[in-house]
Order: sequence, then C-alpha cells, then structure tokens
Amino acid sequence: MVSPSLLSANFANLEAEMKWFNQSSADWLHIDIMDGVFVPNISFGFPVLRHVARICCKPLDVHLMIVQPEKFVGEVKALGAYLMNVHYEVCPHLHRVVGQIHEAGMKAGVTLNPATPVSVLEDIAADVDLVLLMSVNPGFGGQKFIPHTLEKVRQLRQLLDRTGSKALIEVDGGVNLETGRQLKAVGADVLVAGSYIFSAPDPLKACEALSAL
Ligand code: DX5
Ligand code: ZN
Repeated sequence: MVSPSLLSANFANLEAEMKWFNQSSADWLHIDIMDGVFVPNISFGFPVLRHVARICCKPLDVHLMIVQPEKFVGEVKALGAYLMNVHYEVCPHLHRVVGQIHEAGMKAGVTLNPATPVSVLEDIAADVDLVLLMSVNPGFGGQKFIPHTLEKVRQLRQLLDRTGSKALIEVDGGVNLETGRQLKAVGADVLVAGSYIFSAPDPLKACEALSAL
C-alpha cells in the first residue's frame, strides 16, 4: 500500500493536487501535522485540512507530530480520518490514548522515532491497528532514509507475530523506488512517500511505481 504525504504538495494549488491524487493508485493520503515543539517545524492545521478533507476521496492517514495529541482526537475525527497516528515519545498514557482513538471510531496507529526501539511496543502491539516507523527524524520532507530502519521492520514483524498483533507496518521518510523495494522485502505493508511522489515529473507514474513494488 502507498500513502503519499501531503507535506510535499503544492500548497498554493491543493485542488489541482487532489485532482490527480484522487485518480491515482494511492491507498491513503498521509497528513503530517507538526507543532514546532515535538518537532522543529510547523506544517498545517485543521482550518486548512478541513478544505483538503472535502476534496480528497481517499482515506486520511493522519500523523500527529505534536505533544498531547489526545487533545485533538475529536478534531481528527471531525475531518473524517480513517487512521490517527500518535508518537510513542509524547504519550505517557499510550494505552488510554489508543482507547480514545478507537472510541472515536478510528483506527489507531503508534509511531516510533528512529532512536526508539520496537521493543517498547511489546505490551501495546495487540491493541493497535498500525505501527508507523520513522525512517528519518520527523519534521521535514526530503531527508535521507536511515538504513537501520530495515532491521527495525524485521524486528517489528517478529514482535507482531509473537504478540498475535494484526497491526500493519508503515514506514515514513526517504522512501523512493529503491528504499521502498528494500522495505517491502523485509515486511513493510504501507509506504509513505512525500518528495518522491509530489516532486516527480509525473506524480501519477511515481505513485504507480511504488504501488507495484
Ligand atoms: C516527516 C514526515 C513525512 C514526510 C516524508 O516528518 O512525517 O511524512 O512528509 O517526506 P519524504 O518522503 O520526502 O521523506
Ligand atoms: Zn509522516
């Protein structure tokens, strides 16, 4: 599956971007919300996303790079989101937050930064629908893929099998045709790609190429 990241879209013409996107092979639209606190950047917020949600025909895969993401479960739900991803590093009461996301009727994803080991998921894996592994330090598009992520995907696959979890494995950052192929080979289910798709001369073709891996 492929989840193109809105962060690399042309914000001056989101309607045109959504036109090709809606007809593409993409499975979800990945939405990166940043707060300038948890990550050193600010992207966009709910007033902008309400417009995007209105013209996007695909399920929304929302990635919150913010502190206290539990405050925004209602706002994310109001967008009509399919999946809400929160970072492990900002949730001391992760089990409660996952429950709140489920109660709101959304799928729950837990995201790990590059330096956070997959072993921290041991006691929550069976309760989540997806694990998002960051393959760059979150905050910016266009960064270089961290190769150690491949080993983390392998470890995560084992942990999910061992704990009986049906969670999907999603990977975010520096994904292109080459790193995408490597990730699929070790067991990744969903590839997030920003610059590789949106900066391509033909985004539709770039998206299709990733879908075909
Ligand atoms: C990074 C974001 C990513 C970003 C990926 O903090 O979480 O989703 O858009 O961009 P690329 O694919 O260009 O690395
Ligand atoms: Zn993301």
